[in-house]
Amino acid sequence: MHKSRFFGGIALAASCLAGCGVATASPDQDAPVPADPTKISFVDPATVQGLTTRSLSEGESGGRYIHASYPTFADAPEFNRELEKEARRQVSEFQGETRGTSAPAKPEINMDWQLPVVSDAVIAVRLRTGVFYGANWGDSTKTLWFDRKERRLRGLVQDDRGVRRAVLARFTERGIKTFPNDIGFDSLTFNPDGDLVVEFDECEVADCSQGRVAVAVPREQARPLLTATGRQAQDAAAQPVRQSPPPSAEPTETTAATGATDCSVAKCVALTFDDGPGPYTPELLDQLDRAGAKATFFTVGLNVAADPQVVRRMVREGHVVANHSWSHRDLSKLSSSRVADSLTRTQDTLAAATGRRPTLMRPPYGAIGKDVQTVSQRMGLALVNWSVDTQDWKYRDPTEVAQKAVGGARPGAIILMHDIHRSTVDAVPAILKALQGKGYALVTVPELYGSSEMRAGRLYTAGPLDRATR
Ligand code: NI
Repeated sequence: MHKSRFFGGIALAASCLAGCGVATASPDQDAPVPADPTKISFVDPATVQGLTTRSLSEGESGGRYIHASYPTFADAPEFNRELEKEARRQVSEFQGETRGTSAPAKPEINMDWQLPVVSDAVIAVRLRTGVFYGANWGDSTKTLWFDRKERRLRGLVQDDRGVRRAVLARFTERGIKTFPNDIGFDSLTFNPDGDLVVEFDECEVADCSQGRVAVAVPREQARPLLTATGRQAQDAAAQPVRQSPPPSAEPTETTAATGATDCSVAKCVALTFDDGPGPYTPELLDQLDRAGAKATFFTVGLNVAADPQVVRRMVREGHVVANHSWSHRDLSKLSSSRVADSLTRTQDTLAAATGRRPTLMRPPYGAIGKDVQTVSQRMGLALVNWSVDTQDWKYRDPTEVAQKAVGGARPGAIILMHDIHRSTVDAVPAILKALQGKGYALVTVPELYGSSEMRAGRLYTAGPLDRATR
């Protein structure tokens, strides 16, 4: 299994679990900085056979923002059920906690994931959840371990008290004030040396001012504390890190994306699909291909990382691929450096997959703050929202989705849909047939504006000809 620096940004974030200051405090430039032992490396999901991404989401017009992603594995249905159950549990807990609240900034839950270990014996999925209740983000992690032979979740540790003693000893060394009764081990993994990394959520074991806390229990000390699954996991995590093969992005030949149809003459509509790629995206591409229609895909970087092939296909077939952030957090609630990080990581992942850097972005939930616009401008990205919201995340019925899309269409319209929903992809053949029957050309967003009209940092919600009467 290939491990890589692919998730460098995330690995770095993980390394800052309160260990940062300790590891890098030396002012002596010549002294080697010791590697942070709590740093975890992750498997590149594109190298995992049979992996697909799933998302639970509520869209732009909901009272709260919900987006929870998790991976599924073709050969581990039992694990998939556990992952879905955990995602649903966290979302429903959030819904319960935010029922009836009204905050100036919408409450939000966002879950993304990483793969600390994928081997023949075990798979680990590290779920990272951010929750926003109106003032600050609270972040937590939970790592689920699946034993492939036993076909069920298994714990890594057989001696909880031993791990607790080892953790407390490290807390004492670092002067962390702890609340020992609250210690739980729901995010355990290993670093590449095989040391057991124990992660805690913010405020879980120490004062919130400590931020996030993690400690590493050395390999040999941890070994006798582990279950059989834990020892297999330790061995798998300690396999040498191999570099992912360089992406083989083919040079792109299509010209359809930039002006094959002259929308100042033709009646044009731009179909846009957000939040993918997902399990139904290849089928959607088949439908578009059969109808000779082009679309614009606002993709989530995390999902692109899991399936770069399908994104490569989009470009090859003349569609436009654009940036919809790394994990679909509302960017208007983030600092400008985190906005830049989310967009840059997605740009890099898309460029590696397709050989092109996107020039369009759509902010998750359509939420635009000043920083979002400034950062987008600096990165050469025009902002694109929509003029027709099909609300397909709410109406999971193909007939209803098709009616909303077709009913809202005007020359120059930008129509919002999500290719992560089965019902949306099922609606597309009827949408294509009806719109083409009315004489519409189905084009990409840049085509709608002509090749030179879209400017970085500017917001577009519909083409110049989106008028009710024409
Ligand atoms: Ni979205």
